[in-house]
Amino acid sequence: MVCVYLPGRDMCIDNSFNKMEKSHSLFSPGNIAGLELRNKIIRSGCFEGMSQGGNVTDKLIEHHREVAAGGAAMTTVAYCSVSFDGRAFENEIWMREEIVPDLHKLTDAVHKEGAAASIQLGHCGYFASKKVIKKTPVGASRKFNLFRLSYCHEMSVNQIEEKVEDFGKAAQMAKKAGFNAVEVHAGHGYLLSQFISPWTNHRKDKYGGSIENRMRFPVDIIKRIRKYVGNDFPILVKMNQFDGMKGGLEVEEAVEVAKYFEKAGADALIPSCGFTSKTPFYMLRGNVPIKEMVSNHKDLFTKIGLTLFGRIMVEELPFDKLFLANGARKIKDAVSIPVIYIGGAISLTDMKNVINEGFGFIQMGRAIIHDPQFVNKLKNGEVTESDCDHCNRCVAAMDAGGVYCVTKTEKV
Ligand SMILES: Cc1cc2nc3c(=O)[nH]c(=O)nc-3n(C[C@H](O)[C@H](O)[C@H](O)COP(=O)(O)O)c2cc1C
Repeated sequence: MVCVYLPGRDMCIDNSFNKMEKSHSLFSPGNIAGLELRNKIIRSGCFEGMSQGGNVTDKLIEHHREVAAGGAAMTTVAYCSVSFDGRAFENEIWMREEIVPDLHKLTDAVHKEGAAASIQLGHCGYFASKKVIKKTPVGASRKFNLFRLSYCHEMSVNQIEEKVEDFGKAAQMAKKAGFNAVEVHAGHGYLLSQFISPWTNHRKDKYGGSIENRMRFPVDIIKRIRKYVGNDFPILVKMNQFDGMKGGLEVEEAVEVAKYFEKAGADALIPSCGFTSKTPFYMLRGNVPIKEMVSNHKDLFTKIGLTLFGRIMVEELPFDKLFLANGARKIKDAVSIPVIYIGGAISLTDMKNVINEGFGFIQMGRAIIHDPQFVNKLKNGEVTESDCDHCNRCVAAMDAGGVYCVTKTEKV
């Protein structure tokens, strides 16, 4: 049997029958820009809430070791800010030299379990917490944040250039810490998304207006990261296929965004959706756990706001299997780099179909939070579908000491 790896699909030639047939692609190795992964399932970045003071903790290391031991090909350390002023919470990592040795402990633990490790790098722009970053947040344009009840400053060109460098340096530190890839967060209404989206970018300079201008800052970031990490290091980009509100990014323009990222040097794209400060549950679907969010939130204003207006502020959309497939397909068909499917991949049949359709990999969040052994169990035939009920109480849990499946724990 001879296996040939093409971006996004692997074909095995079975000599005995002299014909070409698809191998069991989901559990056969895949490749992103030279990085060999043991199968096609990657744990997506799901904020862990385990980094008090912005530090790597034993709990965070154990969390990712457990995911790796559960069979995923790669695990993603969620939202790490490229600088101190890009944080929404006190327990979010910001990248700095002094934590590189601890990050190395995390990547070592993951590698020992046979998986690769990726790190999500971002900046949350206008929804950074003034309390946490000790100054007024910055964004693409001046904007009021309903969840924080605060305005941000529009970034100056100097500040934009500074952030480009911050992303480059953060990626360099990630590589030094033993990560196998970086994932740039350009979706969910984070800073890059704030530049890409016409809903938040009202700039009149070379960073606003046309799609070319709105992509200038994200493109510069990808190029700077490439300069720092070299050609043989995968850069993944999590982007939006749509923002979820009138005046935001729509799928047609997201296809163009994807092409810009490919041209800038991205090695794989993850088309998600939603805007954390406006449509936070679009990327998740299922129940909105307002009661738990209120009781776990530390900020009094947010607690009051959520109690009074939570049901109006946070729209609830029903969960559907593969709920982001339509837009993801459009993006896949427009680029030649691997596109990683994300959103409601919970059944073995769906996952196999997604890979057979030509998606390079699948990212999975809640199914693995619910059961860290899920990938091994799928592979061994013990289960064919996740029984995560999309109550989304794991989202509230991350604000109260660390993410875990609340439903499962209650059943024990
Ligand atoms: C508890 C929790 C935390 C999350 N935090 C992040 C995050 O930090 N960064 C991110 O890009 N996505 C985050 N997400 C979204 C997931 O990565 C993923 O896009 C979403 O859950 C849909 O995938 P799923 O249906 O497989 O869960 C989070 C999801 C959950 C459930």
